[in-house]
Amino acid sequence: MVSTKYLAIDKEIISEGMSFEFKVFVQSSDKKMDCFKENGSCFTNNDKVIIDTLHALYVEEAEHPEYEVFYKNFLVTQQELKNIKLDNKPSAIYENAENVLNDLFSNPEGLGNYESSKEVVHDMIDTILDDNFSIKSLMDIATHDYYTHTHSINVSIYALSLGSYMKMQPETLAELGESALLHDLGKSKVDLSILNKNGTLTDKEFYEIKKHPDIGYKIGLKLGIDNQNVLDGIRYHHEKMDGTGYPSKLKASNIPLFARIIGICDIFDALTSRRSYKEAMSSFDAIKLMKLKMNNHVDVKILDKMIMMFR
Ligand SMILES: [Fe+2]
Repeated sequence: MVSTKYLAIDKEIISEGMSFEFKVFVQSSDKKMDCFKENGSCFTNNDKVIIDTLHALYVEEAEHPEYEVFYKNFLVTQQELKNIKLDNKPSAIYENAENVLNDLFSNPEGLGNYESSKEVVHDMIDTILDDNFSIKSLMDIATHDYYTHTHSINVSIYALSLGSYMKMQPETLAELGESALLHDLGKSKVDLSILNKNGTLTDKEFYEIKKHPDIGYKIGLKLGIDNQNVLDGIRYHHEKMDGTGYPSKLKASNIPLFARIIGICDIFDALTSRRSYKEAMSSFDAIKLMKLKMNNHVDVKILDKMIMMFR
């Protein structure tokens, strides 16, 4: 018998009087899924009180596309977005970004998915440039379990925060955010058994992984990206200042600026994320390690800017 799968939904979007075209479930203490709200039935104030005490709400996997449509409409309606309390806004943006990146990685050549990723970057920039808003709160919600798509969102958040700290113009920030969000897109074509491998990679496996910047660059071209900065960030984010990186062994200032910024954010997120084989490092320890052990690899001037930003 095929068991039904359930996926978590963002419970913060639910308000009194709202109804969905799908059933909403809660998980009981014995891990069974109980129907909390039938489709078409409105949420009451009492429901809201109960929901606030729950860890999560779920929909059946088969009805998740319905939820995604609802959720995307909810987010793009600016008036409704403003109604979300400021504290919850970054979470909503992050969750939307996760959905978009999931779609993008499962269908990297899909033009609609690429357009959605641009909207994600604009939502992040609007939040980061909002005077009432601290960069820290967007960074605080970064997920610390490592998956390629959440890693891409985190790197984009760090790069945008850093770019904003470096006083980049909004158009440049948008390009940087886009490049950071897409930097590992080439991994969508790398065998999952290699990407998710726990142990040390063999030479052959590492050879396969090292193809991802070039693959990502080619997907970028296919998607019609013609901005050289965006393409450079994708293609050269694994270059190292001493020329020992890949794919082109570029050195120092020959490595394009976006690639140097994304490279630092990439390492920082990898160090501060939890993996099945390692615990997450604190931000402080990660920065310290990068400063002491990686000064031949990363652009130290940009790393110093990151340190100043965290202060
Ligand atoms: Fe990468």
